[in-house]
Amino acid sequence: MQQLDIESIRRDFPILDREIYNRPLVYLDNAATSQTPRCVVDAIDRMYCHTKANVHRGVHTLSQEATDLQEAARERVRAFINAASTQEIIFTRGTTEAINLVASSMGDLLENGDEIILTAMEHHANIVPWQLLRRRKRILIRVVPVDATGQLDMEAYRSLFNERTRLVSVCHVSNVLGTVNPVKEMIAYAHSLEVPVVVDGAQAISHLKVDVRDLDADFYAFSSHKMYGPSGVGVLYGKKYWLDMIPPYQGGGEMISHVSFEHTTWAELPFKFEAGTPDFVGIAAFRTAIDYMESIGIERIAAHEHDLLEYTTSRMMEIPGMRIFGTAPGKAAVISFLLGNEHHYDTGLLLDKLGIAVRTGHHCAQPLMHALGVEGTVRASFAVYNTREEADRFIDALRRVAAMLGL
Ligand code: ALA
Repeated sequence: MQQLDIESIRRDFPILDREIYNRPLVYLDNAATSQTPRCVVDAIDRMYCHTKANVHRGVHTLSQEATDLQEAARERVRAFINAASTQEIIFTRGTTEAINLVASSMGDLLENGDEIILTAMEHHANIVPWQLLRRRKRILIRVVPVDATGQLDMEAYRSLFNERTRLVSVCHVSNVLGTVNPVKEMIAYAHSLEVPVVVDGAQAISHLKVDVRDLDADFYAFSSHKMYGPSGVGVLYGKKYWLDMIPPYQGGGEMISHVSFEHTTWAELPFKFEAGTPDFVGIAAFRTAIDYMESIGIERIAAHEHDLLEYTTSRMMEIPGMRIFGTAPGKAAVISFLLGNEHHYDTGLLLDKLGIAVRTGHHCAQPLMHALGVEGTVRASFAVYNTREEADRFIDALRRVAAMLGL
């Protein structure tokens, strides 16, 4: 595989020139949001300056052009994840809204006493929407446990199914542990019992090749802002079979076919699930972000991140008191850790003073923190523009922090 020209890639990201406390920024919070290349910023600028008009609502030229840009983005997303049709690509505000949509609309098909299966490593965005559903329908939520390496207990997974199981919802990659879950195998098992599966792909989509038809996922959710794209745009892929079956999530303009006070009918897919004016500027620019990722190549991005992960992890292990959470084989480039028993917040704050941006806290995964027996962790996560030099600066900073904390 051809080596990446990282220096040239870095020049595409204006923010990487920033200094924090007079030191060059080392941005290692990519699992929270990735940075945005100039071409995506330019696409936003171009749309605001030349093509801004509401989509699917006008005969005038600007509206037609804006609509074409949005629908070209939909086709781009379809091809990127190998969906069968653009009817299966719904634009949302992000992964969170996408999962809320499924929980709310699939929830309509559930009866009191039905059961769903989640896992102990889910983000709150894949827990709370189901709890909200539980307030409407008295469903039972069953949880697959995680082992000491951060992998799902697959035997437990299979044992949680029974005749009341109606749905599984699982993250493809854990935002805390980096574990890549065997979702294809999980889906095949669930399907053998005629149970559909929702996949939270927020942490997978920019790090590994996702083919929704190969996975046979019923729903797959992800966000643009973790893919070098604009914030405020997400995608829900759903199989046409289910999208036809379930009711709309929100009501408003664009999602209807005909409205009267007596009776309203829904628009065709995917518009049935897109009430109100979408973030058409962000959606158009999202297409540029996907083009950008593909111009580099997802396999090459993954290989580069993997190299950084291995290199950084092995160097971190030399630091006194280092505790790493999540050691599953083949994990994604996310490293959660603590320095001894020091508070994650103190470590994060000291790293920031040294120019290193990491995330600290419970990472919106409090049940997982509970299972790990910690309140929170520090998390470093990589993207295509990170370098071994940055990893070295991170390690040097960690050594200084460990020394300051007396470890
Ligand atoms: N879900 C994002 C994270 O893990 C925000 O940081």
